[in-house]
Amino acid sequence: MSSATLTPEQRERILRAATSAPSKHNTQPWWFRWSGDDLEVHIDPRRTLRLGDPTGREAHIACGAAAFAARLGYASLGLGTETVLLPGGGPLSVALVRVTGSAPDPRFDTLYWSLPSRRTHRAPFRETPIPSLVLENLRDAARDEGAWLRGVEQEPAYERLLTLIREATGLEDDRLREERARWVDAPDAVHRLDGVPAGSLGPRPLDPTGAVRDLAVGRDVPGRGTIAFESRPAVAVLETRGDTPLAWLTAGQALMRVLVTGTRYGVAASFANQPLENAELRAEVGSEARHYGTAQMVLRLGMGVEVPPTPRRPLSEVLGPEELA
Ligand SMILES: Cc1cc2nc3c(=O)[nH]c(=O)nc-3n(C[C@H](O)[C@H](O)[C@H](O)COP(=O)(O)O)c2cc1C
Repeated sequence: MSSATLTPEQRERILRAATSAPSKHNTQPWWFRWSGDDLEVHIDPRRTLRLGDPTGREAHIACGAAAFAARLGYASLGLGTETVLLPGGGPLSVALVRVTGSAPDPRFDTLYWSLPSRRTHRAPFRETPIPSLVLENLRDAARDEGAWLRGVEQEPAYERLLTLIREATGLEDDRLREERARWVDAPDAVHRLDGVPAGSLGPRPLDPTGAVRDLAVGRDVPGRGTIAFESRPAVAVLETRGDTPLAWLTAGQALMRVLVTGTRYGVAASFANQPLENAELRAEVGSEARHYGTAQMVLRLGMGVEVPPTPRRPLSEVLGPEELA
C-alpha cells in the first residue's frame, strides 16, 4: 500500500475515468476502495446479470476495463501505475491499480483525453473505411494488454460470423429478454443513472441481419426510426488465452485500450456478443489460434458519428461503505 497523497480532486478524476468504462447493459458492476493512493476494483454482485452473465465473465470484463481507464486517470496526473489482477482479499476483489513511482506510459495521457467521447455506437457508421494504420493501432492496443483483436474480413469467415450472430439472436429466450428489459429502456429509466436509455439504442436497422445488435429486439420503442446501416461493417473478435477470471479481466483491460485508441482516431464500436452467450456458438466464434482462441467480445467497428452518452452513478455510490463514513 502506498501512503495517501492524492487530493480529493485527483481521486475524483481517477474514479471518473474508471467509471466511464463500458459494462453490459450499463449495469456498472463495480465498486472501488482506496488503499493509500492505490485503487482496488471489486465486482458488485448486486449488479451482475443472473441470466445474461451467469458466470460473471462480462462483469469481470467491465471491471478490467474500469481498471485500465483508472490507469489513464493516474497517467493524466503524471503517475505511472501497474495493474495487479486478482490481488487476493476475496473472490470479488478483482484488480488493484498500483502506483509504481515511475513515469506513466507516454501514450496514456492522450488516451485519457479521449475517455469522455468514447461511446458504444449503435447508429450507422460513415461508409468511409477505417484506415489500415488505425486498424494496426487497434491490434497493437489489444496486444499491449495481453489479448488479440482478430479482424474477421475474408469470406467465408465474415459471413459465418454474421450467421452465428443471427442464429444466437433467434435463440434468446423470454426470460433473458425480461432481464434485459430491466436495464435497457427500463420503465423507470428517467429516474436512474444506470442502464441503457432509449436514446442510446440507436435506430432500428432496416436490414436486421447484420452485425448491429438491436438491444430492444422484440419490443417497440416509441419514436425510434428504422434506417439502413453501413453495408459491410468491420467486425473483429477480441480473444484471450484461456477462459478464466484472469483472462476475462485481461480482455477488459484490452477492450478499454482498443476502444479508447479507436476514439482517438474517430473509430467507434458496438458489440454483437449474442453468440458468446451460448456455449456452443461461442466455441465457433473463437479462432483456432494457438496462443489465443477464446472469444470474449465481438466488435462492430467503423468511423463514428456523434451519439448520446449513457448515464453513470455518482461517485459516492461506487465507493465502499468505509470510504463514506
Ligand atoms: C462485457 C460487455 C458486453 C457488452 N455487450 C453488448 C452487446 O452485446 N450489445 C451492445 O449493444 N452493447 C454491449 N455492450 C455495451 C454496453 O451496453 C455499454 O457499454 C453500456 O451501455 C454503457 O454505454 P457506453 O459504452 O456508451 O458508455 C457491452 C459492454 C460490455 C463491457
